[in-house]
Amino acid sequence: MLEIKPREYFEGEFSLPGDKSITHRAVMLNACADGESTITNALTGEDCLSTAACMRALGAEIKVDGTTIFVKGSPDFKSGQRLNCGNSGTTIRLLTGLVAGKGIQAELYGDDSLSKRPMGRVSEPLALLGAKVQTTDGTAPLVVSPATLCGQEITLKIASAQVKSAILLAGLNAEGVTRVVEPVKSRDHTERMLQAMGAEIRVDGNTVEIKKSKLKAIDVSVPSDISSAAYFMALGALKGKTLCKNVGVNPTRTGILVAFDKLGVKYTLLNRRVSGGEEIADILVEKSPLKAIELGGEVIPALIDELPLIALMCAFAEGESRIFGAKELRVKESDRIKTTAELINALGGDCLETQDGFIIRGKASLRGGKVNSYLDHRIAMTAAVGLIASKEGGEIVNPECCAISFPDFFEKLGVCAGQV
Ligand code: S3P
Repeated sequence: MLEIKPREYFEGEFSLPGDKSITHRAVMLNACADGESTITNALTGEDCLSTAACMRALGAEIKVDGTTIFVKGSPDFKSGQRLNCGNSGTTIRLLTGLVAGKGIQAELYGDDSLSKRPMGRVSEPLALLGAKVQTTDGTAPLVVSPATLCGQEITLKIASAQVKSAILLAGLNAEGVTRVVEPVKSRDHTERMLQAMGAEIRVDGNTVEIKKSKLKAIDVSVPSDISSAAYFMALGALKGKTLCKNVGVNPTRTGILVAFDKLGVKYTLLNRRVSGGEEIADILVEKSPLKAIELGGEVIPALIDELPLIALMCAFAEGESRIFGAKELRVKESDRIKTTAELINALGGDCLETQDGFIIRGKASLRGGKVNSYLDHRIAMTAAVGLIASKEGGEIVNPECCAISFPDFFEKLGVCAGQV
């Protein structure tokens, strides 16, 4: 349990950890590529270490030194491995696709939370390519057996970068053309990185095509994660002024800025540039009076991981906010519709769960209280923001799960706030 005190004012300049999605992909793809690579500003939180451990078990040499990861790839995978994916949905789903066409046997499993998450969304499209992936009643553990894959066109019902990426990685080892069509474009880090590594891949709107390809190792400099910066951006909007440096602003990830526009948050993107095929900027956010929003539809995939935090900001906004079309939140590390509503209400807010989102009646201030993270990193970090912005502060039960995506989150808050 961790006590968090409220703050009248919150100001500072922050360097945030490397992007989780990009680090997973940089490790996984370099680990099966020809050659050696160095990944800098990598996220070395627990999720990405799970990916590194799995890739080591499959034959790659991987050394982690601070936030630098050195990889020596092994295009041929060792068969018969049990791959522990920990808490990480990205690890298990992407790796299932990658392993499916490698002609090996592997078992992929994870912790209690991961074992409850749906895996049929990966095994079913992969089966259409000819993959043999056996689930345990639609969940992990998954057993992958050798199979010959053949490219197909696959139309997805949900916009999921994990599912899209699993199919594209299977397509690397499939005969012919593998084509994925998404209802709405989800984050595209896999496509960008595969292109940079020499894969035959073509993107046209929401459609991606890939042909059987070999990958060349590349060095990757990982931008900071907008999903981690989001907590400091929200504190700037609620309590003062924050500057988050070198943040990845790939347009498939910046839905939070659309929500900020609607809420009336004052922000500026400074020093915009492109590095390693990804857009980057420093984000300055200043205290702003917030107004209620309606948020849903096509923007949801671009802010899916920030929705608990955006819902919390709505609890401080004037009027009644409605967030809809976000049913996917129910199958994240926790049921984030339930755990977010509980968080806001525990702080003295007024949040109603709907089937696919929230109705939040904003208040000028929240009292504070005791919040359970339910071992979900994004809930723990959202709770910290809510408590700092509240009148009385309070406690977080099981705060240590932040290490999944942001190992020094509380230190970063403490350095600035001196109160944690
Ligand atoms: C991710 C995709 C998203 C996101 C997750 C990371 C990725 O999941 O919520 O945190 O790296 O591809 P879905 O693909 O399930 O939407």
